[in-house]
Amino acid sequence: MDKLRMLGGTPLNGEVVIAGAKNAALPILCACLLTDQPVVLRNVPDLQDVRTMLKLLQEIGVTVNFPDPADPSHLVLSAAVIKSSEATYEMVKTMRASILVLGPLLSRMHNARVSLPGGCAIGARPVDQHIKGLKAMGASIHIKSGYIEAETNPTTDRLKGASILTDMITVTGTENLLMAATLASGTTILENAAREPEVGDLAELLVKMGAKISGIGSDRLVIEGIEKLHGAEHSVIPDRIEAGTFLCAVAAAGGEILVKHCRPETLDAVIAKLKEAGLQMEVGPDWIKASMQGRPKAVSFRTSEYPAFPTDMQAQLMAVNAVAGGSSTITETIFENRFMHVQELNRLGADIAIEGNTAIAQGVEKLSGAVVMATDLRASASLVIAGLAAQGETQVDRIYHLDRGYDRMEQKLTLLGAKIERIK
Ligand code: EPZ
Repeated sequence: MDKLRMLGGTPLNGEVVIAGAKNAALPILCACLLTDQPVVLRNVPDLQDVRTMLKLLQEIGVTVNFPDPADPSHLVLSAAVIKSSEATYEMVKTMRASILVLGPLLSRMHNARVSLPGGCAIGARPVDQHIKGLKAMGASIHIKSGYIEAETNPTTDRLKGASILTDMITVTGTENLLMAATLASGTTILENAAREPEVGDLAELLVKMGAKISGIGSDRLVIEGIEKLHGAEHSVIPDRIEAGTFLCAVAAAGGEILVKHCRPETLDAVIAKLKEAGLQMEVGPDWIKASMQGRPKAVSFRTSEYPAFPTDMQAQLMAVNAVAGGSSTITETIFENRFMHVQELNRLGADIAIEGNTAIAQGVEKLSGAVVMATDLRASASLVIAGLAAQGETQVDRIYHLDRGYDRMEQKLTLLGAKIERIK
């Protein structure tokens, strides 16, 4: 397994270009199942999770072409022929976002067999709301030997529009039901819908494909189902979490960086907290110039659904708090076990205690390098940030977690002057 080894203490300086958003690309790739015509995508990030999703789609029958073999961010998907409506356990267990083929397959093929995603390091992560919504749209669904077996009403053969209120705000739940509703007969109303920008980006693509959706960006989506969708071209929005991760890196390690190709308006809560921490920022239409002189100030925060502070940035800002002046409380309200990075940060000399879903961090002057282990995607990013700020050498093991959601992180950090290398 690959490791990252770094020598901390060097401030970051230079430019970093942000890739397309992983959590927009994954549902957007599944949307191609809704039409038999080609969908052309640009700015798709070159990530392990994207490669996993493309493999799953190819097993279902989607053809994937790269017009320019040297450019993995530009691809053409065609679901003209679907040869299987199944997503096997082998596929789904490596990436729970595979559940996103359920809605499109059911809507296009009128049946689907998708393995229940197991839990993962950060929580049980059930999909009961996905199932509840599809049942409301007339699907008959049975759970058999770990698989979701779904089919539409054999007589009408199509899902029917319904009014659905999910028990909690769910990002992929909203995305699954949104995709299913585009081809249902009648109107679907999704109340309590997720407002994450990645949901909006998926909706923008679906509208380009001919879908009739209103309320995009709000917590109430209204979809008027139609018979067929056609192909479209779309460029995936920049990854707000990757951008936020680099902002936290410079806040912890010091220096001055220019973050390019990002959408600052999707980072309001993160920018506000980092400003409070003392990060100087100048914000342009698609760039953020950030500089940190001296030590960050501790900032307390709690995660919540968009537009509030994102859970996917919790571990990264905790790494900043680990070296900040003062103490801070960090409350995680979305997942039940998203503090796996705390023990590893403490191995680097941090002073963080956990009380239920709240972590209390006493900032320390200096972390000291150590061997630490990544446990999940954003925890890995947190450990890299802490390693950049620590004195001496840090080694982060199991960075396959990092590779799921970041496109060559160590190369981008090297361009910013960090002393970091990948050990195969
Ligand atoms: C999406 O996961 C993201 N993944 C996650 O990003 C992100 O952390 C999460 O949304 C929250 O923003 C993708 O978009 C591929 P949820 P998702 O359904 O959709 C509970 C990363 O780091 N829930 O919004 O799986 C659930 O247990 C990843 O890039 C149910 O109980 O999250 C959680 O507590 C990690 N039943 C809460 O709701 C359901 O049917 C929010 O989950 C669905 C969700």
